[in-house]
Amino acid sequence: MALRVEELSSGYGKVQVLFDISLEANDKSITALIGPNGAGKTTTLLSIMGVVKPWRGRITFNGNDVTYMPPHKKVELGIVLVPEGRRLFPNMTVEENLIMGAYIKRARQHLHDSLDYVYTLFPRLKERRKQKAGTLSGGEQQMLAIARALMSRPSLLLVDEPSAGLAPKVVSELLETFKQIKENITIVLVEQNVSAALAVADTGYVLENGKIVLSGPAADLLESDHVKKAYLGV
Ligand SMILES: Nc1ncnc2c1ncn2[C@@H]1O[C@H](COP(=O)(O)OP(=O)(O)OP(=O)(O)O)[C@@H](O)[C@H]1O
Ligand SMILES: [Mg+2]
Repeated sequence: MALRVEELSSGYGKVQVLFDISLEANDKSITALIGPNGAGKTTTLLSIMGVVKPWRGRITFNGNDVTYMPPHKKVELGIVLVPEGRRLFPNMTVEENLIMGAYIKRARQHLHDSLDYVYTLFPRLKERRKQKAGTLSGGEQQMLAIARALMSRPSLLLVDEPSAGLAPKVVSELLETFKQIKENITIVLVEQNVSAALAVADTGYVLENGKIVLSGPAADLLESDHVKKAYLGV
């Protein structure tokens, strides 16, 4: 088990958002976390990353307790978050953004291999490597945000709503690349696009009001009455 979250509670100030949530992500698999607006999906990723401090519970990564480890230490350990909204450097080129992703010591040594790897995954970024990030299309910017995270050579990639604001065709193309990424890396994918997310995921969890209400193999969730009714409109 690459990531294990046990009975995690957290929130902001006095407001509790997550209530004893437990989830696991297998090594080199895709785990989808789905749920409605405000359910606590982003808070879950921020708590795993250590940006939001857990109140209670335990987070283990490759067997190590990382519950209260600060975010920069987690990056060194191989956990990286692609946040909602991408946060690129718009006036820097594609390649400069990528190089920024390899700032940690462990990654810097492998800069050229990492560039080759992300350019193979996303040939469009290679074509546009001298272009300013701010001039890319929405889909390309999301590719760049993911590629930049990969430059830190993570073993666990947390991705928050990569499909937000993208056209359906771009969404499926983007999510399909996670299948290639998982050959090397464990992925936790937060998505509002439930059908597309469960189509590429191995396992899924449904989060509602800060609680896990359903989980299982992604294919089973796609067939479950609850998911169909609440998220797929069928
Ligand atoms: N920085 C913050 N301070 C206070 N409350 C917050 C903060 N961020 C989020 N919340 C609240 O925490 C709850 C969960 O928010 P969160 O962003 O985790 O949900 P989400 O499932 O990611 O939703 P969405 O699908 O809209 O991204 C919401 O009620 C939200 O208003
Ligand atoms: Mg969110």
